[in-house]
Amino acid sequence: MRIAVTGSSGKLGTVVVRELRAAGHEVIGLDVAGTRGFGFVQTDLTDYGQVIDALTSVQDRHDGVDALVHLAAIPAPGIRPDVAVFHNNIAATFNVFWAAVRLGITKIVYASSETVQGLPFDVPPPYVPVDEAYPARPESVYSLVKHLEETMAVELVRWHPDTSITALRFSNVMVPGDYAEFPDFDADARRRKWNLWSYIDARDGAQAVLRALQSAPAGFDHFLIAAADTVMSRPNAELVAEVFPGVEVRGDLGVHDSLFSTEKARRLLGYAPQHSWRDED
Ligand SMILES: NC(=O)c1ccc[n+]([C@@H]2O[C@H](COP(=O)([O-])OP(=O)(O)OC[C@H]3O[C@@H](n4cnc5c(N)ncnc54)[C@H](O)[C@@H]3O)[C@@H](O)[C@H]2O)c1
Repeated sequence: MRIAVTGSSGKLGTVVVRELRAAGHEVIGLDVAGTRGFGFVQTDLTDYGQVIDALTSVQDRHDGVDALVHLAAIPAPGIRPDVAVFHNNIAATFNVFWAAVRLGITKIVYASSETVQGLPFDVPPPYVPVDEAYPARPESVYSLVKHLEETMAVELVRWHPDTSITALRFSNVMVPGDYAEFPDFDADARRRKWNLWSYIDARDGAQAVLRALQSAPAGFDHFLIAAADTVMSRPNAELVAEVFPGVEVRGDLGVHDSLFSTEKARRLLGYAPQHSWRDED
């Protein structure tokens, strides 16, 4: 496939571009930042004219794409004023989705976020491990936009039943260089309670994107995408008892199994995380 990847210069996008190319796909990277290079087209996604043009064709680069992977966003609360997060992220996503609809690009995979599960869990989760079964609980403007984007996608596929939109609710994205810090997390159980001690290796994030491109049917669906384990060496039972006493525990938590369930992604997408911080040197 020829695949447009937005946010191609970012932490996750760089790895997704590399892995999609390694899997044999042709990739056109669209990002407002980045260095000139093969397959990269500098594009401001808040400008619909640029978006529809860049996805239609770009001289000397491509004459249309088969699929779209949308990762561009201001990637967390607090980096920019809330209003800037709202305007940038919602406009970029609407423009990208709408251009895809206009151009008949029917396969879209994009980055939603773990935050819609209710991070930073100042209000405890309804149960652990958390899954996608309870209603979204955005607690920041950043997360509100992620929730609105999922809502927008539901309506777009209702209007265009041949289109497939997959929202991947990524956990906190990590690359191997981040893992040196992980042993320090154990000292304070509350330091990483905001996402239930979860994370996702960017390479597994890329795997989830690939699987969704390969297997997601028409329609909309959302999936939690996390590593198989937590960031902690302390056991789950101890962490949950200390930080979330009284929260319903469903099933066997395992010692270090992720408290973000990826059962749905495993079952419906064939997602199978391969990378753990515990295996890095
Ligand atoms: N990093 C995380 O922990 C995390 C967790 C869950 C979800 N996500 C989501 O995953 C995606 C990728 O995150 P990341 O960590 O790689 O972030 P990043 O900041 O490293 O990369 C995002 C890229 O998007 C580009 N971008 C932003 N606005 C743009 C615009 N208007 N036009 C063109 N390009 C624009 C930026 O230039 C940047 O290169 C985002 O949608 C983010 O919300 C990230």
